[in-house]
Amino acid sequence: MKDLYNPYTIKSLELKNRVVMSPMCQYSVQNKDGIATDWHYMHYVSRAVGGAGLIMIEMTDVAPDGRISDFDLGLWSDEQIPALKRIVDACHSYGAKVGIQIAHAGRKAEDAEVPVAPSAIAFDENSKKPRALTTEEVKGLVENFRAAVARAVKAGFDTIEIHGAHGYLIHQFHSPLTNKREDEYGKDLTLFGREIIQAAKGEMPEDMPLLMRISAKEYVEGGYGIQESISFAKEYQNAGIDMFDISSGGEGPIAAWGRPGTHAAYQVPLAKAIKEALDIPVMAVGRLDDPILANAVIGNEQADLVAVGRGMLRNPYWALEAASKLRKETVIPKQYTTGF
Ligand SMILES: Cc1cc2nc3c(=O)[nH]c(=O)nc-3n(C[C@H](O)[C@H](O)[C@H](O)COP(=O)(O)O)c2cc1C
Repeated sequence: MKDLYNPYTIKSLELKNRVVMSPMCQYSVQNKDGIATDWHYMHYVSRAVGGAGLIMIEMTDVAPDGRISDFDLGLWSDEQIPALKRIVDACHSYGAKVGIQIAHAGRKAEDAEVPVAPSAIAFDENSKKPRALTTEEVKGLVENFRAAVARAVKAGFDTIEIHGAHGYLIHQFHSPLTNKREDEYGKDLTLFGREIIQAAKGEMPEDMPLLMRISAKEYVEGGYGIQESISFAKEYQNAGIDMFDISSGGEGPIAAWGRPGTHAAYQVPLAKAIKEALDIPVMAVGRLDDPILANAVIGNEQADLVAVGRGMLRNPYWALEAASKLRKETVIPKQYTTGF
């Protein structure tokens, strides 16, 4: 029987349990330089002390104009490597593995003077109208992703997650609602994502797994559904993705048409559908902070890993407490054993 506290291995990534800290932007860079601060160090290392098997560092951008805000993390410069390496090394010393989510916000870059996107379509009437990227610029951005992944490998990360969800640039390319291009990147909606995957693989050790977060369902009117996301995920799988992290939405303003569930485990059916259709490992996320529920998702083989977001904002020791509630064995830092 599988449970949340069984170890999990995918390629060279060996996790002591199935609990993942979901990537969550902290908007806490100090000098708009994309460099991690003491806040990031404390925030991530305390979740390592708190027992998470894998910590996914927040959306980290490949270009200054790819940030949601000027206070996001970046990996467009070698100067951004040491502060991340310090976090990775410390998390390792507490038994956690560490990944990083590599991204570009595209039209959702709020502080960019003129955001860029596949097509000049604004997110909503309150957002800046983006400029459509030229074909050369699209190819240039693939190289930005390549360079950011190479820097992440230098920083010592154990895995990389490409951010293809939540209406950010890669999602904007594979969604027919936001990609109206006439060049090769419009004729083939997953080409941009596939080129990024291939570029990333070229910079990663052969046995390091490459993850991708996707929105498996759009909520705006006319948005794609699970059948379409199974098709595009297959293309990303063929390009080299080893595991999908299944989220949803983010592509437009939430309208009456449909909205993400607010109930527990609302995205688990999407994760299971992708897992079964592609025969690929998946990570489930979204309102899974009840340990019994998170454990059931693993036991029922709906997903291979469970990511916890807001639950870990409330409680850095979520993974230790969950183990205690579920009566599972886990390593408690010796300084804290009396607390459990
Ligand atoms: C403060 C905050 C920041 C977030 N930033 C990111 C991010 O950088 N990348 C991402 O893919 N999702 C991001 N998310 C979404 C979470 O990773 C997670 O998918 C979502 O919160 C649902 O999980 P939960 O119900 O456990 O919180 C963020 C969520 C929160 C609350």
